[in-house]
Amino acid sequence: MNEKLLLKYDHIPGINTLAVYRQHNGYTSLEKALKTLKPDEVVEEVKKSGLRGRGGAGFPTGMKWSFLAKPEGVPRYLVCNADESEPGTFKDRYLMERIPHLLVEGMIIASYALGANASYIYVRGEYYYIIKILQKAIKEAYAAGLLGKNILGSGFDLDLYVQPGGGAYICGEETALLESLEGKRGNPRIKPPFPAVAGLWGRPTVVNNVETIAAVVPIIQDGGDAYAKIGVGKSTGTKLISASGHINKPGVYEIELGVPVEEFIYSEQYCGGIRNGKKLKAVVAGGSSVPILPTELILKTAKGEPRLMTYESLSDGGFATGTMLGSGGFIVMDEDTSIVKNLFTFARFYRHESCGQCSPCREGTAWMEKIIKKFIDGKANMADIDLLWDVQSKIEGKTICPLGEAAAWPVAAAIRHFRHEFEAYVRNPQSINEVKHYYRLNNLVEA
Ligand SMILES: Cc1cc2nc3c(=O)[nH]c(=O)nc-3n(C[C@H](O)[C@H](O)[C@H](O)COP(=O)(O)O)c2cc1C
Repeated sequence: MNEKLLLKYDHIPGINTLAVYRQHNGYTSLEKALKTLKPDEVVEEVKKSGLRGRGGAGFPTGMKWSFLAKPEGVPRYLVCNADESEPGTFKDRYLMERIPHLLVEGMIIASYALGANASYIYVRGEYYYIIKILQKAIKEAYAAGLLGKNILGSGFDLDLYVQPGGGAYICGEETALLESLEGKRGNPRIKPPFPAVAGLWGRPTVVNNVETIAAVVPIIQDGGDAYAKIGVGKSTGTKLISASGHINKPGVYEIELGVPVEEFIYSEQYCGGIRNGKKLKAVVAGGSSVPILPTELILKTAKGEPRLMTYESLSDGGFATGTMLGSGGFIVMDEDTSIVKNLFTFARFYRHESCGQCSPCREGTAWMEKIIKKFIDGKANMADIDLLWDVQSKIEGKTICPLGEAAAWPVAAAIRHFRHEFEAYVRNPQSINEVKHYYRLNNLVEA
């Protein structure tokens, strides 16, 4: 499929302005929602669409919305998660930079559906220029009667605020985000209660990713059923993929869910193949937190079927042979990449970003970084591989928030699929040549 739903007009000059956005169907979904649908009917369309959260976990959006507690007279909030700090993920930045009104329109429709009269976009602090872009779009929307009191004569009121993030990866975790939005240190909260019951200032709150909220616009435009026909199985619609690494054409691509991974990597329409004619070695398919897979497993499942860009296909085989779609941060590594050095970069990141509340994460991330560094420094022995495995295995499921898992999974996958590289560093410190030799000997990279 070449049809795009979110990035249809991203290259139109001036699409970031209200005037040009309106010339390209802008705010017609909002009009349709406000004039022809009741709030519950909007929720129903989103349920029918099968849309799943694009922030990483893939939770069904319509279902999340229907969990929102609705006590009378109690304010409810919609919070957009634009913290986007996962290494390898930069799709929300692109969307907000190019088509800020798509997010603003989605926020108004979603707020109407949820009965929220004040909503927030929490933007990664380092995206300072995007905060300016969003503020300009919001100002234009207020001036046109698309925000504020009695929007388009519907009787629905909404104020929309942009909040600069706290400058930490942990602030992307939804409850840490809410703490930060309340002006506190961004420490994740213990759940339950979930935000749908007690979120921002203790009120019922929905937190959704930028892309999730933007997808509501085409869903209302064409109807939930039409959206559900795009994609494969329970992976409906389109997905923005941030493609980076050793590919000819890095960038943000909107794909129909279901494109084969091989086509995504090699076709001219997307990544355009591996840079400098090199061979593919491995892919981290969904942002730094998801398990890395070697060539033979990212292109095909363990059953020998072509691996597809869907939630189900990428996770086929569990973590033994599969991975996750995650946030769609697709990092491609060529044959010259050192998996151990790459892992060290990730481990250093997670150690730095652990908020420190939970001992297994605070101590475990520091230990993992130290042990991986020993391999790179030529000071590790074979037992350190098992020690590293042991440390990562003691984090999963033992922390308040999933940053612990995000730090442990990449380590487990690197050992599971590339143990020989750790061994090569022990036998022949500082050298990647042995690893390359191993690859050639075992014919692990396609010829
Ligand atoms: C450490 C950590 C960082 C996260 N960062 C983000 C982020 O930057 N953006 C995002 O949308 N979700 C992020 N998430 C996921 C959110 O907690 C939450 O699941 C998501 O915002 C829900 O939106 P969705 O249902 O639309 O995907 C993060 C989770 C964790 C554990």
